[in-house]
Amino acid sequence: MLFVVIMIMILITKIGNVSADLGACPKCGSLEVPYPFSTDDSCGDPRYKIYCNNGNELQFMSAEGFKYKILSIDLSANKLIIQPPDLLVVDDTTTTCYSSDFSSQGLRLDERLPFNISTRNTVMLFNCSDNILRSPLNCSSNSFCRQIEDKVEACRGTLCCHFLKDSHMTSYMIRIRSGGCTAYTSVVDIRPQDPVDNWNYGIELQWLTPN
Ligand SMILES: *[C@@H]1O[C@H](CO)[C@@H](O)[C@H](O)[C@H]1NC(C)=O
Ligand SMILES: *[C@@H]1O[C@H](CO)[C@@H](O)[C@H](O)[C@H]1NC(C)=O
Ligand SMILES: *[C@@H]1O[C@H](CO)[C@@H](O)[C@H](O)[C@H]1NC(C)=O
Repeated sequence: MLFVVIMIMILITKIGNVSADLGACPKCGSLEVPYPFSTDDSCGDPRYKIYCNNGNELQFMSAEGFKYKILSIDLSANKLIIQPPDLLVVDDTTTTCYSSDFSSQGLRLDERLPFNISTRNTVMLFNCSDNILRSPLNCSSNSFCRQIEDKVEACRGTLCCHFLKDSHMTSYMIRIRSGGCTAYTSVVDIRPQDPVDNWNYGIELQWLTPN
C-alpha cells in the first residue's frame, strides 16, 4: 500500500513538473539564453523562439524566415538588438546595393508574436527611386545616410534617405523593394555628433513580458 502511495506521489510530481513553467534554456556555447527565450521545445517560452547557430551565435527569425544575428539582449528593458542585413554579394567581386533580406522585402515581424520594432531606430535607406521623395523621409543632402554613404560602397551615389522609426509608423516592418529603396541599415539611438564609426548599428526590438 505504502509502495502504491509513493508511486502515485512520484507520478503526480512528474506531471506537475511537465505542466509547470519551463525553465531557462541551456547556454548556446558561451552565450546565455535568458528566459523567456527558447532555443528548444524543452525550455523557455515557445513564443520567444530564437536560434542557436553553430553554438556561438543567437539568431532571431523574421516572419519571412530570414535569420538575423542577435547582437545583445537587455533583459531589464525587454529589448534586444539584431544585426542589420549585409549587402547582397553576387559573386566574389560584385556587391550590389541590395540588402541580403531583399527577397523577403526587408524585415517583417510576425504580428502574432510579442515583438515589435522600437522607436529608437533611425533607418537609412539606399538606392531609392524618385517616387519615394513624396513620402515622409528625409532624403536631403544633410540626411544621416550621406554620412555613412562612403562606408556602403555599393550604394554610393544612389538616392538615400533616413527616417526615425517612430510611433506613427508600423512597428512590424522595415520595407525595401524594387522601385522603392533596395537596401537599408539602422542605427539605435543615433548621436549625430559622434563619428559614424561609433554609431550603434543595429535594429532594436522590444518584447512584451510573458504573463
Ligand atoms: C534632414 O535631416 C538633417 C539631419 O538631421 C536635418 O539637418 C535636416 O533639417 C532634415 N531635413 C528635412 C527636410 O527634414
Ligand atoms: C537600384 O535599384 C534598381 C531597382 O529599383 C536597380 O535596377 C538597380 O540596379 C539598383 N542599383 C544598384 C547600384 O544596385
Ligand atoms: C511595442 O511593444 C511595446 C511593448 O512590448 C509597447 O509598449 C509599444 O507600445 C509597442 N509599440 C508600438 C508602436 O506598437
